[in-house]
Amino acid sequence: MTEIVEKLRLSHDISDAELKLLIETGDEAAAGLLKRYADDTRREYYGDKVFLRGLIEISSYCRNDCLYCGIRRSNKDADRYRLSREEILSCCENGYGLGFRTFVMQGGEDPYFTDDVIVPIISEIREKYPDCAITLSLGERSFESYKKMKEAGADRYLLRHEAADAGLYSSLHPAEMSLSHRKECLFQLRELGYQVGAGFMVGAPGQTTEHIIADLRFLQELRPQMIGIGPFVPHHMTPFAGEKGGTLELTLRLLGILRLMFPDVLLPATTALGTIAPNGRELGLQTGCNVVMPNLSPVKVRKKYDLYDNKICTGEEAAECRGCLQRRIESAGYTVSAERGDAPSFSV
Ligand code: SAM
Ligand code: FES
Repeated sequence: MTEIVEKLRLSHDISDAELKLLIETGDEAAAGLLKRYADDTRREYYGDKVFLRGLIEISSYCRNDCLYCGIRRSNKDADRYRLSREEILSCCENGYGLGFRTFVMQGGEDPYFTDDVIVPIISEIREKYPDCAITLSLGERSFESYKKMKEAGADRYLLRHEAADAGLYSSLHPAEMSLSHRKECLFQLRELGYQVGAGFMVGAPGQTTEHIIADLRFLQELRPQMIGIGPFVPHHMTPFAGEKGGTLELTLRLLGILRLMFPDVLLPATTALGTIAPNGRELGLQTGCNVVMPNLSPVKVRKKYDLYDNKICTGEEAAECRGCLQRRIESAGYTVSAERGDAPSFSV
């Protein structure tokens, strides 16, 4: 088993059969070696730097109905909100003062945020903070919309592909959503010059090792600059309320594999990972992660961006979250970088 880890480190690729063995093995020596090589590799490319992304959750309205997600339109219990232009800009101002040089605007697919609404907000952030990266995570939109937002100053776009196997994708999403459209959006974003982030949930209901291998192969085809993976965590008001969540062990295993397959990728230690284990994000950092995304949203809306149960960081002010994460990063043996943190091929 350790030879497989060795091979993955040196050639950044192994066969499907080897991936299956490595994903499923209970061999602790192999798991330990994977973690060590993942950390060596991230240090080779990024030193001990961890990049911060200030997350602004701009809306909990969503026209979609993803079966796993707490803000799906069918959840009539969800407490909906959307931030105004002024609130978004005040999050940026606060975040800039706290040292953030990337703002991530994420939200449900809220029909209110048409191009006429979001484009001027992006332009204003671009003008006020020329030294910052603007990342969007607003779901599936048209090519024209992605283009306008890029021209207004957006640099990056996060759109998890969610599941590269069409059967699994359709069991997680309503009939009107399709894997082919999701993929088309990702390729359009790449074509428009965005730094692109894709990814999937670990332990989504019905997910098998073969599905995960399909995800890894799709990521090899897309070659995104960022890969976001985190455990699936059930939400009590969704059809998956009674399902088991993804495990810490499998998430860490896949983070290690991703770091060795994509040595220079930006890999966040996600909030979901911190939700299933108190030291989940620290362990993620020690297994190849080099990004964390402290929450910059106003505290009054945080609980309403309720994707899954027991989400952490919902009561803290931005400054508290920033301080908490700095301590966590340092305790794990890394340092907070003050840079924008672009992928190496996009350095400015
Ligand atoms: N609407 C945008 C989109 O579709 O990309 C951005 C917001 S969406 C809520 C962000 C991500 O949250 C999704 O890509 C999904 O992987 C993750 N997510 C949703 N529900 C989750 C759950 N129950 N457990 C873990 N992650 C979840
Ligand atoms: Fe948000 Fe710890 S990171 S409170």
